[in-house]
Amino acid sequence: MYRKILLALFVSIFLASSVFAKDAGVIKVGVAGPMTGPQAKMGMDFRNGVVLAVEEWNAQGGVLGKKIELIIGDDQADPKQAVSIANKFVNQEVSGVIGHFNSSCSIPASDIYNRAGIPMITPASTNPQLTERGYRGIFRVCGRDDQQGKVAAQFVVSKLKIKKVAVIHDKTTYGQGLADEFKKFIGTNAQVVHYGGIIQGDKDFKTVLTVIKNKQPELIFFGGIYPEGGLLVKQAREIGLKTPFMSGDGVIDPKFIEIAGSGNAEGTYLTFSPDPKNVPTAKSFIEKYQKKYGEIGPYSVYAYDATNILLTAMKNAGRADSKAIIEKLHSGEFIGAFGKIKFDQKGDVTAAPYVVWITKGGKFVEYWKP
Ligand code: ALA
Repeated sequence: MYRKILLALFVSIFLASSVFAKDAGVIKVGVAGPMTGPQAKMGMDFRNGVVLAVEEWNAQGGVLGKKIELIIGDDQADPKQAVSIANKFVNQEVSGVIGHFNSSCSIPASDIYNRAGIPMITPASTNPQLTERGYRGIFRVCGRDDQQGKVAAQFVVSKLKIKKVAVIHDKTTYGQGLADEFKKFIGTNAQVVHYGGIIQGDKDFKTVLTVIKNKQPELIFFGGIYPEGGLLVKQAREIGLKTPFMSGDGVIDPKFIEIAGSGNAEGTYLTFSPDPKNVPTAKSFIEKYQKKYGEIGPYSVYAYDATNILLTAMKNAGRADSKAIIEKLHSGEFIGAFGKIKFDQKGDVTAAPYVVWITKGGKFVEYWKP
């Protein structure tokens, strides 16, 4: 009798530990980015792309015979929050992470995922450092700021033939990194008459804009995100500074045009990948997205592709084992809404074409190709 009770106790402890330790019924995937706060528009556009991909997989039965449970982490574009979310994801035993959005979040968070051996694919973090540290499980489906900054500089030098530029940035890993790449590639082809930072979250940039106005640049390059980008253009026009603006992927969102107000964003140049609306393989995703959420954001397709790639690698690995998934990510060629995607040794995509867009008639239109 005594032995039977002991045996029953043993069995139930064993069952409880195996069931609860790993939540055996589901496969958990984390998605992290700024879901609230000033950058929430881009964070949500990207979250929505991930949700659509997961819904499609779950409608087909999930992956490896299990349903996918999506855990959403709001890092508010704050590196400290990003680290805290990364630790939570590790404790929750996620099998992979889509995110983060900002390079300043992805880089510190990736230290944690790397230590835990969890694969991370960012749809949007473009700072080169992310994939320069030899972390085998850290990937991105977007391009890098050394590619983006180069295209911006080529455009300014060879197309606009501009000789005097001002360069400003938001002092973040991404913003300053992109501004520095732009400046590096401008080299001696144009004179940098002003170089300096602003503070993310500030609302009044008229002092620095007045300093820039007095230096009479022919173009102002801004490394940063759309909330400050919009205010900079708006306030520049308010002080009579009519110089064209140029920025990158962090600004190319309709919110930029809205914040700039009264047509102030007209003529702004932005570097980004070519229009996904001209990519036939992206058509069905875009239609689905529009039906459910409205217009796609710049990183919606990237987020959708990143999720499908992670889940395909999991399926190909045959088990939700991080090491096996990471190896499949390195060795596979994936078919995304954007076409074929393959990762190099570092975890970067092998092709990342940047083009220049212009803001025209209150919309972004593709304008120049290197
Ligand atoms: N590309 C931007 C970044 O890396 C969103 O932060």
